[in-house]
Amino acid sequence: MTRKLTPGRLVIASHNEGKVREITALLGPHGMAPVSAGSLGLPEPEETGTTFAENATIKALASATASGLPALADDSGLDVRALGGRPGVYTADWAERQWFEGAEGRDWYMAMGKVEGLLCELGPDADRAAAFVCTLCLAWPDGETALFEGRVEGSLVWPPRGKLGFGYDPAFLPGGAALTFGEMDPAAKNAISHRARAFDLLVDALF
Ligand code: IMP
Repeated sequence: MTRKLTPGRLVIASHNEGKVREITALLGPHGMAPVSAGSLGLPEPEETGTTFAENATIKALASATASGLPALADDSGLDVRALGGRPGVYTADWAERQWFEGAEGRDWYMAMGKVEGLLCELGPDADRAAAFVCTLCLAWPDGETALFEGRVEGSLVWPPRGKLGFGYDPAFLPGGAALTFGEMDPAAKNAISHRARAFDLLVDALF
């Protein structure tokens, strides 16, 4: 039988504010008291894996063992069909680390532009299909882990649209929708996103 999560403190093993915000909202109804790895001052491990599952496991185990609390990590990214699944596990890296007014951040517009540039090189009829993928790993402090994967299919638009969400949201139009993730309010995105789908599986298994 799968081990269950009991109500109490849980570390969100991420330093990405957008993910922490979405995971906090998704955890809301389940009696957990989430605290982010950043606010606990936990180190950010290097993501040396070559799959979403490996990287999610690295992050969740690092936070669980350092804090003594169960920890939930998300490794996610954009899978562009015509680019053979790229940027995939390197989705964040394509935005490179930059300094903006004294603080470190990433340039998401540049990253979306790189994807668009590669699609343009394939010609005007390039397949614009893409999916967001999310793997969640829950790790307990004793080293046990559980993995859950969610996926949302859609297509890429250019120019990007909307100022909501984070990362590549303005360039992603979920299948059948009129609004990009960057134009949707958070509740609408949370109803259909890759993260929400992985989360539904986690809730079924662990609560
Ligand atoms: P990582 O999981 O920390 O390696 O980063 C994954 C990257 O994928 C994020 O930094 C975002 O750029 C992108 N990403 C993952 N999920 C989303 C999403 O829901 N919206 C937009 N971008 C996302």
